[in-house]
Amino acid sequence: MTTGLDDVIAAETVLSHVDGEAGRLIVRGRDLEELAGRIAYEDAVALLWEGLVSLDGDPRAAIGRGRERAFRLLSPLAPHLRGLAPVEGMRLLLAALPDAEPAQAALAVGAAAVAAAMAVRGAQGLPPVAPDPEAGHAADLLRMLRGGPVDASEAKALDTYLVTILDHGLNASTFTARVVASTEAGLLSAVVAGLCALKGPLHGGAPGPVLDMLDSIGGADRAEEWLDAAIARNERLMGFGHRVYRVRDPRADVLKGAVSRLKGRDNRIAFAEAVEAAALKVLARRKPGRRLDTNVEFYTALLLEALGVPREGFTPLFGAGRTAGWVAHAVEQAKAGRIIRPQSRYVGPWPAEAA
Ligand code: ACO
Repeated sequence: MTTGLDDVIAAETVLSHVDGEAGRLIVRGRDLEELAGRIAYEDAVALLWEGLVSLDGDPRAAIGRGRERAFRLLSPLAPHLRGLAPVEGMRLLLAALPDAEPAQAALAVGAAAVAAAMAVRGAQGLPPVAPDPEAGHAADLLRMLRGGPVDASEAKALDTYLVTILDHGLNASTFTARVVASTEAGLLSAVVAGLCALKGPLHGGAPGPVLDMLDSIGGADRAEEWLDAAIARNERLMGFGHRVYRVRDPRADVLKGAVSRLKGRDNRIAFAEAVEAAALKVLARRKPGRRLDTNVEFYTALLLEALGVPREGFTPLFGAGRTAGWVAHAVEQAKAGRIIRPQSRYVGPWPAEAA
């Protein structure tokens, strides 16, 4: 038995498949590269939910209504967000939504975007910005977060990011959401649980620390020495390694392409590439038994930085995109109709036998 449940198959799903040997991500029968940057997030959500959740009307309008309803429910809580880490503010907001709400699935996706934006602003003492239910989801999310205009190339980059992270097999947060759904606790409870699992630095909490690492390295000429010393101190290099991928995470290339299409990022990308090359060299030397490569978080950090998102906002945005995946898995699990209840092997002491 491994403590990380490696190789245990705990669910059957039609939603997504991670091929760790080939570096391939398949979502509802399509390769990621067929979807990210090619279809809008709302349409990707509708594709993921096909046959599981029916959206009332066209996906963009249904999710827009979800944002609008969420803002009505959540904006009175804005004064409680000041000084909270944004991911904790987002958790507070989503936890306030009752499981009994109608149109829960679209509400969950809308609420995750509203809560992410509100929590990032609220942490800085800024008032929430109301959604525009007619706007595209990515553009509206970025506008609500910034409180200012968003140009088309920025909206497109965020849209590509949200589609890229929509779903990813039975990762830690998705498994958590499925466990909660299996108890029939409700969809919104499953989403809150997913977010709690996502926030850890080994999962969705990594991209902020990626930028901290780049700051600390400072210049390309120092990268190899810095990274080597970090491994010698037994630290993990953020944005590298993965439980399933044995090759480069396909999402890294999609996101690198998306950030490269934004203006004025050439120097930053060149620096990141130099750090990435040095990290792969150091990891190959220091961890020869294990092929470690770049994961999704490395270029997520570069992309969200380019969009002006503060680093504490990276995990909330990840949660906003992944909520649709948690919802789909929660519905699929609830349909399976059986509580998830594995067993542990007891290795503690036994009571003394009665004399
Ligand atoms: N830096 C340095 N060493 C690493 C790294 C890394 N990023 N990742 C794994 N290793 C090492 C481990 O320390 C271990 O070495 P050891 O046997 O000498 O102790 C060896 O590689 C094997 O570890 P794995 O079994 O491959 O790692 P595991 O599957 O348990 O963990 C994880 C996967 C958590 C992603 C890990 O690679 C990590 O901590 N990466 C850094 C954090 C990160 O980027 N997280 C985001 C992941 S993507 C996502 O969740 C969205």
